[in-house]
Amino acid sequence: MRLKTHFCTTALIALSASLLACQEPAEPEAPVPGRWYTATQASSGEGLFQAHCASCHGDRAQGLAEDWRKTDADGNYPPPPLNGSAHAWHHPMAVLQRTIVNGGAPVSGVMPGFGETLSEAEVRAVIAYFQSLWADETYARWQEINAR
Ligand code: HEC
Repeated sequence: MRLKTHFCTTALIALSASLLACQEPAEPEAPVPGRWYTATQASSGEGLFQAHCASCHGDRAQGLAEDWRKTDADGNYPPPPLNGSAHAWHHPMAVLQRTIVNGGAPVSGVMPGFGETLSEAEVRAVIAYFQSLWADETYARWQEINAR
């Protein structure tokens, strides 16, 4: 009987030790080499992008308009590609974030704002996703602009 109790106690201690081990904070994930974001941020951003942005900007951020530089009959610009082939890399991080949070109205555009829908971390994840589509050369030029 005594032996059995002892065994149970030992098992319990082992179990709680392994539970504690699970709760230890994991090592923070290292960023993708040369980039500011982690692979996890970019992949969670991809899901958010498909849900909130792809309908206008294309499912690979390639843009859906024939020419994103041409305004429509109302004088509005179409949603541009965000995959590095258009203009998005000219904007530092703060401007990209502001555009997504406030939408296009402040720049007399028509894009809706996502400040109510997406948290700040989610906005950054979406940016990480479309930046993951940029060539290293494009990203390097953006980094220069971003550092100014
Ligand atoms: C209803 C269509 C629509 C949706 C949905 C949309 N956008 Fe846009 N977006 C536009 C348009 C149109 C523009 C051009 C500026 C304007 O008219 O507001 C634009 C511009 C941008 C720009 C500026 C690009 C540049 O080259 O200056 C960024 C960045 C951007 N969108 C990101 C996003 C992200 C991220 C999402 C999803 C969270 C999103 N957009 C959802 C229509 C949309």
